[in-house]
Amino acid sequence: MRRAFIAGNWKMNLTQSTATELTNGLVAKLDDNTSVDVAICPSFGFLSGVAAELASSHISLGAQNLYPAEAGAYTGELNAEMLLDLGCEYVILGHSERRHLPDIAESNGFINLKMKSAIAAGLKPILCVGELLDEREAGQTTAVVEEQLANSLADITTEQVDVVTIAYEPVWAIGTGKVATPDQAEAAHANIREWLRIRFNDLVADTTRIQYGGSVKPENARELLSQPNIDGALVGGAALSVDSFMGIIENA
Ligand code: PGA
Repeated sequence: MRRAFIAGNWKMNLTQSTATELTNGLVAKLDDNTSVDVAICPSFGFLSGVAAELASSHISLGAQNLYPAEAGAYTGELNAEMLLDLGCEYVILGHSERRHLPDIAESNGFINLKMKSAIAAGLKPILCVGELLDEREAGQTTAVVEEQLANSLADITTEQVDVVTIAYEPVWAIGTGKVATPDQAEAAHANIREWLRIRFNDLVADTTRIQYGGSVKPENARELLSQPNIDGALVGGAALSVDSFMGIIENA
């Protein structure tokens, strides 16, 4: 019922030439893929170059952030309209690195403004949520994730949430090689789905795609992605090579 969705978050990596090389490698391998939705999310500077390479492929383009304002005096920022103009379909919002890097420290309120501005412009947000290690150890995983969902999705209507993907990314599993067990991930995803059922309705709960993120690799993808409530993956490190990203897509 829900098509698998694998997104690569390239973070602040690569150069113009290695980004082009990686994109071309993926396009060549994914030429006839029609069963899994795939997106890649380069840093801002590489968006237009990657968009050109993706033009006639099945791979979608996403950005890693946006600034929620009309064009104007916001030095260094890009807004939703600019991302659309650059060819983006998706935008990652509320990533844990933006929530937790001390000099960035994005709040749920700010993420909510970004969600609204992405949806209003016609971008599809990938909203990241997830707990820190000490929050998990203190038994607060559900409370933390539900608070992030409630505040990041504040005022977003049942009609609007249609374009949203949720990515559950336990912060302790991101870039650490420590992957959540399939049972831990499935339990968190099932909770998110029930939260969507109560906040929105059955249709939203049953159709919203919930990706898992945090040290996903070809070796652990199959077991994670075969869980009933895991509909895809948001991939960091393993999205930086054609072979490992393809290995994950083939397991989806
Ligand atoms: P990782 O990153 O796959 O390198 O753990 C995932 C993410 O941050 O989205």
